[in-house]
Amino acid sequence: MKNSASSRPNSHSPMRMAADELALIMVRCELMEEGEPFEISSVEGGVSSNVWYIRTRSGRDMIAKRPLARLNVEQEWLADQRRSNFECMFLRDVRACVPENVASVLAHDVESHTLFIEYFPTQAFFNWREEILAGRTHEEAGAGIGATLAKIHHYFAQNSDARERYDARDILQGTRIDPYFDAITKRHPKLSKKIDKLRSQTLKADSVVIHGDVSPKNILVAPNRQILLDAECACIGDPAFDPSFLLAQLLLKTLVVIEREKEIMAACQGFITSYFDGVIWEDKHSLEQRAIEYLGLFLLARIDGKVPVPYIRDDNIKALAREFGTNLLNLKDKKISDVLGSWSMMINEQYANLESFRISNT
Ligand SMILES: Nc1ncnc2c1ncn2[C@@H]1O[C@H](COP(=O)(O)OP(=O)(O)O)[C@@H](O)[C@H]1O
Ligand SMILES: [Mg+2]
Repeated sequence: MKNSASSRPNSHSPMRMAADELALIMVRCELMEEGEPFEISSVEGGVSSNVWYIRTRSGRDMIAKRPLARLNVEQEWLADQRRSNFECMFLRDVRACVPENVASVLAHDVESHTLFIEYFPTQAFFNWREEILAGRTHEEAGAGIGATLAKIHHYFAQNSDARERYDARDILQGTRIDPYFDAITKRHPKLSKKIDKLRSQTLKADSVVIHGDVSPKNILVAPNRQILLDAECACIGDPAFDPSFLLAQLLLKTLVVIEREKEIMAACQGFITSYFDGVIWEDKHSLEQRAIEYLGLFLLARIDGKVPVPYIRDDNIKALAREFGTNLLNLKDKKISDVLGSWSMMINEQYANLESFRISNT
């Protein structure tokens, strides 16, 4: 996490305006006294929200977060600011099952869509995406986050009252269906039948609440502890969505951090083992088949969708991921651990090419 901007910017800067507005909201939410000085700095790393670190004079620190109406990505992507309500509700609900793995909510100002949550200090909690890209895999985090995710899905599978509160499919349409499913159908019309099936499955499913954005950049890692952040896309849905969303991101990282391929794949293996160990609300085999299809789609979407991963720019490397993802969409009756094995094999076969890409990319 990088903090920028000082606490006393000039009076017309966006930071100063944000600080003045946040001060009013924090007083209203009883997070500080009127007129109490506080430090504020913006936190970089996300594309869909303004995120600030705040420390009040009394020494209380916190994160304030407000969703943007237009996301900071290259292509036009508008999204509903009610995402903040769902994030708040999700964080409050899942503390019942994973209290150590999500931030506690300090306050939520519905009117301004501003959420105040517990801050995890950067000295002890590291962003998993940045860590992996820097060659530090934190292999054990895979199993930890797998167990956390299974507990969350199980909690919602058992709790229909809670599930009913997450009918955010209109938001899901804007945040996931349009940029991932629809963008890929446009780019790969031959796959449209398969993707249409997955799209309607995603929009119909209601057995759990999905987090919707389980990706390394939304996970903080510390020894024996992982924090799952950024639940703005929480929505009733198909549990197979979440593990595949994360796996796609982890697999793609092996294309650019090839010297850590074994550790990253071990993290993936740990993740699926502990996630599927925790799948006790439905047939594991059926969930696994759906997860493989979603994985195919998400690999394609991260190359050709609205939000491609920024670290893969070489066309030959893109083609590898594209071909692998397309094959997964057509696989029948496979095991996800075999899929991981095939990915490793592909990486090893392509090692020389990937190595030259890595050198030209640095
Ligand atoms: N509670 C927190 N403690 C520490 N860092 C945080 C916290 N919440 C968010 N961050 C940092 O800010 C980044 C952006 O926050 P996130 O909730 O993911 O917003 P966005 O929706 O914009 O992606 C995260 O990737 C993380 O590095
Ligand atoms: Mg995020």
